[in-house]
Amino acid sequence: MIKLQLDKHSPLYSPDFVFGVATSSFQIEGDRHGRADCIWDSFCAQQGKIHDGSNGDRACEHVKHWQHDVDIIASLGVDSYRLSVAWARVINADGSVNQVGLHFYERLVDALTERGISTHITLYHWDLPQYLEDQGGWLNRDTAYRFAEYAAVVVGALGDKVASYSTINEPFCSAYLSYEAGIHAPGPNPVSHDSGNRRKNGRQAAHHLLLAHGLALPRMRELAPQAEHGIVLNFSPCHGASDAAADQAAAATAHDYHNRWYLQPLLQGSYPDLLERLAADERPHIEPGDLTLMCQPLDFLGVNYYTRTTFKATADGWFKDVPPRGDELTTMGWEVYPQGLTEILTKLKKSYPNLPPIYITENGVAYDDIVENNHIHDNNRIDYFQQHLNAIEDCITQGVEIKGYYIWSLMDNFEWAEGYTQRFGIVHIDFDSGERQLKDSAKAWQQLLRSRQQVI
Ligand code: NOJ
Repeated sequence: MIKLQLDKHSPLYSPDFVFGVATSSFQIEGDRHGRADCIWDSFCAQQGKIHDGSNGDRACEHVKHWQHDVDIIASLGVDSYRLSVAWARVINADGSVNQVGLHFYERLVDALTERGISTHITLYHWDLPQYLEDQGGWLNRDTAYRFAEYAAVVVGALGDKVASYSTINEPFCSAYLSYEAGIHAPGPNPVSHDSGNRRKNGRQAAHHLLLAHGLALPRMRELAPQAEHGIVLNFSPCHGASDAAADQAAAATAHDYHNRWYLQPLLQGSYPDLLERLAADERPHIEPGDLTLMCQPLDFLGVNYYTRTTFKATADGWFKDVPPRGDELTTMGWEVYPQGLTEILTKLKKSYPNLPPIYITENGVAYDDIVENNHIHDNNRIDYFQQHLNAIEDCITQGVEIKGYYIWSLMDNFEWAEGYTQRFGIVHIDFDSGERQLKDSAKAWQQLLRSRQQVI
């Protein structure tokens, strides 16, 4: 087993730097009967949507094994656990609060606190209640207001016990992948969608997600004044498939459409100029004051980073992604490209000098893990983490403030459209027996995190 290593002067050894592990509700919880249906239940039920035909009914059965999972988290020596709350487990279809569901999260947070582990809660990690999708989901402006009410229920109950709250995880995925590309729930043609074109639907969903954030955040801050409040965005540096001017321009457009589209409203209260290039029937409907609402002060920005993306120009002046160029690929088909993290964060810092302090809220990798005599030797995953820790040090040296790092993921789980075929965990899950087993990468993290005691 190889080791994770940091120089003893590394800024990541600073006593305030937070190391954590992350998961999300639908991906691990199971216990479908304990909550209302969500869009992923419906999406999984449609033939051909999930690679292995699976669903989230059982997942890692975390609702059943949560105490054991807290023990595992504690054994890793991390400072923090990032989890998400399932909206459909907290608010019933008639708008009432599911007290049993809410209590589940209260007990979880209390148990973590008792073990000295702080909590980072994401309020929306893609599992929209189906009863809201039936009303139009994120294409319906009302969903943003419903989100703010739901957020107030959760933050009202958990308050300052939680160290940090994120409103939304990766609005890019909930908007673009879900309503525009159609590869995530609810998919391209759910009954509830109007006949608007796909690009318009994606932009409209993005607008309402950012609005939801803007409406919820001030209420959250009031209910938990000691906690930090922010949002989680995913970024990927956009590169041209060739040096040709058209491909370079395509990559720049993709950067505006996939990265800046979500950040600029939050930090500057405006969309990138690219909005003007969209045809009239592709633009979102924006009401006066919306952009001001979205632009709330942020205590932090959560950043999820996995890889870079490569684009080529299309005949109509737009962009199209092409397979990765590098030869080191993960089982997701994503290129291992740690320098992209430094590249994108330094670039964003230049474009947006008011970039808030950053938590890397997700970083990790899927590989085919082989269980051999009860051991999982995932040196390739350890190597991935090492390269990304080095990239974070580079970011800090170049002036980007980074306050913490969360491993994606604590355990193997339901990887959305890929079902259970992709294993991102540092803890292996046997999806038949539910058994949890530490991979070598988890042991490498234990060693690194323990070694901090001597350095700090
Ligand atoms: C980002 C998402 O937040 C998470 O749910 C997903 O599993 C990882 N990316 C890996 O694809």
